[in-house]
Amino acid sequence: AYSVAVMGATGAVGTELLELLEERDFPLRELTLLASSRSAGKELVFKGRSIKVKAISDEDFADIDLVLASAGGSVSKEWAPKAATAGAVVVDNSSAFRMDPSVPLVVPEVNPEAALEHQGIIANPNCTTILMAVALWPLHQYQPIERIVVATYQSASGAGARAMEEVKQQAQAILQGEEPPTEAFPYPLAFNLFPHNSPLNDQGYCQEEMKMVNETRKIFGVSDLRVSATCVRVPVLRAHSEAINVEFKQPLDVAKALELLQAAPGVKVVEDWQANYFPMPVEASGQNDVLVGRVRCDLSHESGLELWLSGDQIRKGAALNAVQIAELLVS
Ligand code: HSE
Repeated sequence: AYSVAVMGATGAVGTELLELLEERDFPLRELTLLASSRSAGKELVFKGRSIKVKAISDEDFADIDLVLASAGGSVSKEWAPKAATAGAVVVDNSSAFRMDPSVPLVVPEVNPEAALEHQGIIANPNCTTILMAVALWPLHQYQPIERIVVATYQSASGAGARAMEEVKQQAQAILQGEEPPTEAFPYPLAFNLFPHNSPLNDQGYCQEEMKMVNETRKIFGVSDLRVSATCVRVPVLRAHSEAINVEFKQPLDVAKALELLQAAPGVKVVEDWQANYFPMPVEASGQNDVLVGRVRCDLSHESGLELWLSGDQIRKGAALNAVQIAELLVS
């Protein structure tokens, strides 16, 4: 059994990590909970036992086998190398090391073998990228993908727990004819959407969009895969959705695509034409699987398919993917 530290234990992903370690009965010998000095001292319950959260700076990592880090990029940049030098393996949920050539970027359904080539740090990909990779990989293995054009519909919780609360407060204020609060978000998100979710680069793409481009290429091992993304923030509370247009080398018919998706790990096909029911974020919330549906031929391209997905970005898009990576290391 392993001595595990959860770094960023009091945050939304940290809380989910603890739930998953418990739910999946991860082989634990010792569990250390770490957070910023602001959150240190809090007590969290794991398997009925109360554990006091320590400040990250108090930990020397000498007795830790595995660190699940979800404390943000600057914390990871500082502490992940220290933990790795002390002999721990760090599964890092931030973007700090994802594009580092010496750090594997792993989605267990896609490239599990890469996890074993680590030099102390393994990166967990961006949430929208993980969800898309899980859905497209089974298709790509059967018929190579040449181009992906994706639009995301990202929930407020992707911007943090505080942002999620603010959307509710905004909705309430607007309905009461009051000025909506805008502390977590720059503008009201309630009854609205943002066409991008961070500042744009010179080419007009935001960070999240470039993560989808670069991380998908690295995970799929296709350095020149053509990917373009539009990442939109919508007033959904939890779970991200994506409308994906895929161009294959050769045509892939819908029946075959559905068969591949139905057999794929981590995917649940949700297509009920009679009930007019397809994947929705409210259904995806709290689920491990990525829900995929609306699989159809692209009317504009003979080798094209369109599909829709909804997936819990805090579960499979973050915490579950990290725990699955950890499971690969101990299996
Ligand atoms: N970058 C993501 C977002 C976070 O902003 O939605 C993943 O939940």
